[in-house]
Amino acid sequence: MAGSLFRTKSIDRLLAEAQVTGDNTLKRTLGAASLVALGIGGIIGAGIFVRTAAAIAERSGPSVVIAFIVAGIGCALAGLCYAEFASMIPISGSAYTYSYATMGELVAWIIGWDLILEYAVGAATVAIAWSEYFNRVLSYVGLDIPYQWRHSPMEMADGVSGIMNLPAVFILAVLSLLLIRGTRESAFVNNLIVITKVTIVILVIILGWGFVNPANHTPFIPEATTYVTPEGVTHNYGGILGILGAAGVVFFAFIGFDAVSTAAQETKNPKRDMPIGILGSLVVCTVLYVLFSYVLSGIATVEDFRTAGREASVAFAITKYMHGYEWLSKSVTIAILAGFSSVILVMLLGQSRVFFAMSKDGLVPRIFSDTHPRYRTPWKSNMLFFVFTALFAAFIPGDIVGEMTSIGTLFAFILVCIGVWIMRRRRPDLERGFTVPALPLVATLGVLVCGAMIYGLGWTNWLRLGAWLLIGLVLYFAYARNHSRLGTPSGA
Ligand code: ALA
Repeated sequence: MAGSLFRTKSIDRLLAEAQVTGDNTLKRTLGAASLVALGIGGIIGAGIFVRTAAAIAERSGPSVVIAFIVAGIGCALAGLCYAEFASMIPISGSAYTYSYATMGELVAWIIGWDLILEYAVGAATVAIAWSEYFNRVLSYVGLDIPYQWRHSPMEMADGVSGIMNLPAVFILAVLSLLLIRGTRESAFVNNLIVITKVTIVILVIILGWGFVNPANHTPFIPEATTYVTPEGVTHNYGGILGILGAAGVVFFAFIGFDAVSTAAQETKNPKRDMPIGILGSLVVCTVLYVLFSYVLSGIATVEDFRTAGREASVAFAITKYMHGYEWLSKSVTIAILAGFSSVILVMLLGQSRVFFAMSKDGLVPRIFSDTHPRYRTPWKSNMLFFVFTALFAAFIPGDIVGEMTSIGTLFAFILVCIGVWIMRRRRPDLERGFTVPALPLVATLGVLVCGAMIYGLGWTNWLRLGAWLLIGLVLYFAYARNHSRLGTPSGA
């Protein structure tokens, strides 16, 4: 039975549902430290090791450093809002769940649909990046996957066109299976990988510092012009627009801290641990990124990142310019492979949790909230999203899926900033473990900074986001609206 597009799910009902125990609930195994690790595990990945070079080459040159600061500010503002929401509604489902309680079912659906861009398409982006570095590892032992089997049909080099990206599909399959085995094991593996990843980033910063060539940083903000990628896409390069575009691209590097909030239902003490998990991981990563991008853009030239250094860019830059550090290039490559895996894991986990919540609400078929009898994971969601992410990773280039992920996430962040404000006005009585200081200012700035990055990403990305949201709307009216548990007497 259909009802108002703006029907909301009451917070009291949300909280009551979270208390229900039984076969369909998730185990509470995570503490604050695990959450920060989950955050960092989900944050440091393809964004810094692959998308940064793309931003340097196609958008901003060395001013990518400023772009990281802009993106970090946008994330911090949205992150504060996320933290208040997560401490108030400690339930799986992230921005989707929050908006269901605040802005009504239609907006919640739009966010849930939009989060597929963030988590599932994001996982595909990282899998494509994994494929680049995987091939580099193979090259160390004299092997090479033919170009066409590690690129999408939309890419071409030396007259050879890609067919499909097989290594990307492979890593998605392995990690989907791991997730089906359960969160506890995944979090443990994740902790190990996080330590390796942070160590590698710090090593590159410290050892690379001495190889920074001031000529590569001059001018620091290139003159405004345009750049046409090998695939024929034109971007603003240099100037303010270049920085905003680059911020939109490297914003990808921050995605993941909000995935912490999707694990609320598996957290022992969500009110205290959620804000620590979200903001703690964000602060650590922002500092590392600014330093890292300064070093990377100083070691190699923009031309390098447009040509031979376009793929596996960090390893490329070390090999070409940091003589005597071939060992670093090799260990970075191997660590990056492991690091990317933990990111994909967090994103797939976040995705299946959002879908779990949407399915519990009846907006997607109930089959997706069935948990595995033994592992108690939403394994059918995991399977579905393996197929979905594999299709993206196999057949679409990293540039496109990466930018789609960024714009989709920025859009969700804007809605979260607005939602937390609405909630303060409508339900000031609800207990909050964490409150955003100066909320009107923080939320407004969050909307403006994230909006500026969306603007910087350019019209091709606006069109893609628009098309994606349109498909979502059709599905809402064709299915979700009539199956919503809020719209049925038993679910009311
Ligand atoms: N932030 C994650 C990455 O950069 C998604 O890979």
